[in-house]
Amino acid sequence: MASTEAERQYPSFASRAKTVFKAWLKEPAQISSLVPSSHALTEEIADRDCVRRARLVVDLGPGTGETTQALLQHMNASARLIAIEKSEHLMEPLRKISDPRVMVIHGDARFLRLYLDQAGLGAADVIVSGIPFSTVPAQVAEQVIEEIDRALPHGGTFIAYQLSNKVEELATPLFGQPQVEYVWLNFPPLRVFSWVKQASRVPVASK
Ligand SMILES: C[S@@+](CC[C@H](N)C(=O)[O-])C[C@H]1O[C@@H](n2cnc3c(N)ncnc32)[C@H](O)[C@@H]1O
Repeated sequence: MASTEAERQYPSFASRAKTVFKAWLKEPAQISSLVPSSHALTEEIADRDCVRRARLVVDLGPGTGETTQALLQHMNASARLIAIEKSEHLMEPLRKISDPRVMVIHGDARFLRLYLDQAGLGAADVIVSGIPFSTVPAQVAEQVIEEIDRALPHGGTFIAYQLSNKVEELATPLFGQPQVEYVWLNFPPLRVFSWVKQASRVPVASK
């Protein structure tokens, strides 16, 4: 049976909030937030020159697609976005984002380079992550950061929006000191950490 227009449409904020809350009840450590990110937060992440200039943007842990939609709004018409979400409970709204520039993957950020290779995509210019580095298992957090490092060329930007400073502990040895912005208009208020990968560091050995 053909799906109706209403079924194909990206759901309302209220419906997305319900989806996130239900997913959080099932996977609290992985989801970490009770409601989708605010407009103020997603604009702080996406309204940047590096996003406007990017040919390829990666969104790790897009949830119901708040960051994805904001990034798409600021990206140029020929750029691509790859969104990698681990929770099956959040895939339905994500798959309803109808934009030819986006590729949604139900997968794990630890395999980012594999997905980029499989899609025939080159290096990412910007990698955004909402993965809660302080509540996922420590080994997973370390593996994701190493994978980001390997997928990001020199001059590429890594942006993480977080409640805890765990990401700073993990990423600063690789990328140097971050720029940090506070976003109060979000529940809960979060910090947005940004790094531009420098050429002057000994890279992590490739596995
Ligand atoms: C704080 S939510 C971010 C949601 C959304 N981007 C927003 O702004 O509303 C974190 C997301 O990261 C996802 N996540 C956690 N670990 C992951 C992993 N290893 N790979 C991909 N996604 C992961 C969770 O399932 C969750 O959707």
